[in-house]
Amino acid sequence: MSEAAPLFSIRGLSKIFPDSSGEYRALWDINLDIYEGRCLLIAGSNGSGKTLLTRIMAGLLEPSSGEIFFRGRPLRDAQGKGTEKNLRSELGLVFQDADAQIVGETVAEDAAFGPENMGFPENIARNMADRALEALGLLDKRESPPRRLSGGEKRRLAVAGIIAMGCDTIIMDEPFANLDWPGVVQTLRIIAELRQNGKTLIILTHELEKVLALADRLVILHRGLIRDDGPPAAVLDRLDPAWGVRDPRRNYAAVEDCSWLEV
Ligand SMILES: Nc1ncnc2c1ncn2[C@@H]1O[C@H](COP(=O)(O)OP(=O)(O)O)[C@@H](O)[C@H]1O
Ligand SMILES: [Mg+2]
Repeated sequence: MSEAAPLFSIRGLSKIFPDSSGEYRALWDINLDIYEGRCLLIAGSNGSGKTLLTRIMAGLLEPSSGEIFFRGRPLRDAQGKGTEKNLRSELGLVFQDADAQIVGETVAEDAAFGPENMGFPENIARNMADRALEALGLLDKRESPPRRLSGGEKRRLAVAGIIAMGCDTIIMDEPFANLDWPGVVQTLRIIAELRQNGKTLIILTHELEKVLALADRLVILHRGLIRDDGPPAAVLDRLDPAWGVRDPRRNYAAVEDCSWLEV
């Protein structure tokens, strides 16, 4: 384990919703230390609590109990008055629904939104956005309406907006959702590049087979609980089928092996 202080420390975090039988524990006693410059993969089936966790970690949703520390400070303080810009410029969340993240009329305007919100003058914000768009191969689309981009391009635009703000920590909620094969490849290239550039990546997905090779660590989330946490190969070796996550280390040597219907 790293001797450096963790970037994120999550302690006893729970999210509880009232329901007909009393309460529904959507996240329960989550404890995680996340280290800088690593690529953490949190895998879990639908409804396991991934989106709730991303929203809580990004400070968009309050937990029911527990604490989150970002660089040693409570997340709430890091977001607090006068320091809000600090967290925003450090931590970016790529939403599962790429369309929900679009705010600009053009690609350039969209990518400049973050830096403008941070208080940079428009011309400087536009420059920051252009540099990010260039890094993500979207500069030639800068005048296009974002809604006309492909799914993969929209996700790259969301990442560009985050990079434009200078964020070193990026949380991605289901980054492969609704992407065709070229879109998945584009997204994986971006993830590999961000990782190479030393960014801290936290990727939450049920499609772990797509990104496993890039992960340093695998956490399994099932029904709001962390079931396992460790080096990806070791975690896959002890995978319980009840957790709803499939070990993708299969040999697809023949067409009849290319099936999700395993016995
Ligand atoms: N606002 C809410 N009220 C009640 N239940 C919720 C709410 N938001 C999420 N949930 C429930 O919490 C669980 C986890 O949801 P979510 O984090 O979206 O899962 P995932 O992203 O892993 O598919 C689900 O069972 C979901 O129905
Ligand atoms: Mg989700």
